[in-house]
Amino acid sequence: MALKNILVTGGTGYIGSHTVVELLGSGYNVHIIDNLSNSDRSMLERIHQITNKIPYFTQLDLRNKIDVFKFFEKHTKFDGIIHFAALKSVGESVFQPLKYYENNVVGLLNLLEGSSQNNINNFVFSSSCTVYGSPDLVPVTEHTKFGHTPSPYGATKQMCERILDDYSYSSSDYNTISLRYFNPLGAHDSGIIGELPSGIPNNLMPYITQTAIGIRPYLAVFGNDYSTPDGTAIRDYIHVMDLAKAHVKAVEYFALQTGKVNEKINIGTGKGKSVFDIIHSFEKVSGIKLNYKIEGRREGDVESIYANATKAENLLNWKAELSLDDMTRSAWNWEQKYRKEG
Ligand code: NAD
Ligand code: WQD
Repeated sequence: MALKNILVTGGTGYIGSHTVVELLGSGYNVHIIDNLSNSDRSMLERIHQITNKIPYFTQLDLRNKIDVFKFFEKHTKFDGIIHFAALKSVGESVFQPLKYYENNVVGLLNLLEGSSQNNINNFVFSSSCTVYGSPDLVPVTEHTKFGHTPSPYGATKQMCERILDDYSYSSSDYNTISLRYFNPLGAHDSGIIGELPSGIPNNLMPYITQTAIGIRPYLAVFGNDYSTPDGTAIRDYIHVMDLAKAHVKAVEYFALQTGKVNEKINIGTGKGKSVFDIIHSFEKVSGIKLNYKIEGRREGDVESIYANATKAENLLNWKAELSLDDMTRSAWNWEQKYRKEG
């Protein structure tokens, strides 16, 4: 049976907002819940500008069990949930571990308990390649074992996947897919929505665009002495619009199945790119010579990780279509437009 009404937690955030645009464009009704701890209500108007539709919105903190239960008493008609809401700063989680366990793990527990009142049996979870830690062999498949994650953030993703496994096992008809995202980059083509980190960016792409626009003096390249072709670390960068489409495919997949679903699926391009690859692509699409300096390795960084993404292709009929230049071009377009127009 086709799914129609989708609850999106964290839907005003970076990946959530791009996914909401795709869901609305594919004809789904969307209700967002978000506590706006890392996003802004104005995102709803931005989504409206792109889609000509306004998603339903409830400001709600998933840590508050009573509020979550009240929400599901009032709203009973969801066919599925996509759960983005989480704190995501790897570095911050090392210094504030309890905040991360409470937000990401307790938030999931409250959501599962609250929604169980309404028999909502289809659940997509935002997982991460961080669950693999530092793998011995790349590309990683979904059979690659969980690795040691040095950060509490990474541990919350492993714990949440385990919780979903146990919950699915306990029920005859609970469907769940954990999408393990690799490194999302870029923005919607319109430049109306994109990634807006609060404070100094931790991630590579926003650091590059903020350097190019003059907010940061230079990009520090964390290490050029790795055993990789150009000495810089390798990741699987994926366009946020490709990633958004993977969620629509996951929701469609639920509708096509008759048996129970419990899957973990890598969402990446299957191609490893280095830090220098990203810088060179950015310089090419922007025509700007980026100011960067080579510095020491960042603690906790993995040398190389990229996905074997064939499961997503076989199961979801999803494949990344956009190139690295598409990613850097759209990120730059968003940065310029945002700094000019807000
Ligand atoms: P984001 O911070 O932009 O979006 C998360 C949203 O969740 C924000 O709008 C925030 O306000 C909301 N939120 C957080 N805690 C909440 C709570 N307790 N109750 C209600 N709302 C809450 O992050 P993002 O980059 O869009 O990431 C979305 C998901 O994808 C997260 O689960 C993240 O861990 C995961 N992920 C992100 C990346 C990445 O590099 N961006 C990579 C892999 C996985
Ligand atoms: C990419 C590469 C850096 C910044 C993180 C999380 C991971 C997942 C995705 C959520 C690395 C280098 C970076 C800079 C640099 N998130 N770099 N200078 O660390 O691969 O993954 O986001 O689940 O869990 O850890 O992403 O963008 O920080 O770094 O040289 O200023 O760029 O060393 O090689 P990372 P990133």
